[in-house]
Amino acid sequence: MDWLNRWENNKIGWHAEQINRQLIEYLPEFNLAKKDKIFVPLCGKSLDMIYLLNQGLSIVAVEMSDIAIEQFFNENKLPFKTSNIDTLKLYEGERIQIYCGDFFALNSKHLDTVKAVYDRASLIALDTVLRQKYVKHLNDIIDEDVRILLLTLDYPQHQKIGPPFAVSKTEVDLLYGGSFQYRELHCINDIENEPMFQNLGVDFVKKAVYFLQKVGT
Ligand SMILES: C[S@@+](CC[C@H](N)C(=O)[O-])C[C@H]1O[C@@H](n2cnc3c(N)ncnc32)[C@H](O)[C@@H]1O
Repeated sequence: MDWLNRWENNKIGWHAEQINRQLIEYLPEFNLAKKDKIFVPLCGKSLDMIYLLNQGLSIVAVEMSDIAIEQFFNENKLPFKTSNIDTLKLYEGERIQIYCGDFFALNSKHLDTVKAVYDRASLIALDTVLRQKYVKHLNDIIDEDVRILLLTLDYPQHQKIGPPFAVSKTEVDLLYGGSFQYRELHCINDIENEPMFQNLGVDFVKKAVYFLQKVGT
């Protein structure tokens, strides 16, 4: 089932009703000031964006589903207006802009002044080929020094079909190593909190958090 169908049929098992614990723990690593802009790629209707707004930050995000974006604004009682920018529809509220359309249609102009990127369930939503394309495009549209908080999952891929897809530390190194400095901040096997993986007989689910920073070429 593709992403738009998932939204139409409300099959959005990845959506979390709580703010992500790693975001709360590691956001200070960014050292952001009030109103600094953070980019949330493939944002869904993530409540983590409410947390970021409540920290005083500004958000620019992209999501292909209108349903997701309208649910985000309506369920959080945030007023918004819409306009068309290039090939994208822009939903805009106070300190938040969400582009509706394809991530690959974004360019650096849309991400002007972005200081940081929050990637939860975005890279790992994509298959191997798209992950390479995603990282290349992200690298192309963000400025030097931009930092990324990247949350990944790793598990034996032959034991379950993605998404979410398994992304190992070796793959993070291959994808980002050339243009980014990175540190692993956290990595634990969290299989006991993943009943869906347990039911499929998956041996482990490693959850990792990386802090990356784009370096000059
Ligand atoms: C697994 S969900 C994660 C959503 C969000 N990051 C979260 O943590 O709840 C992936 C989202 O990416 C969106 N998506 C997938 N491919 C996309 C693309 N090429 N451009 C824009 N959005 C995309 C899907 O509609 C879906 O809402």
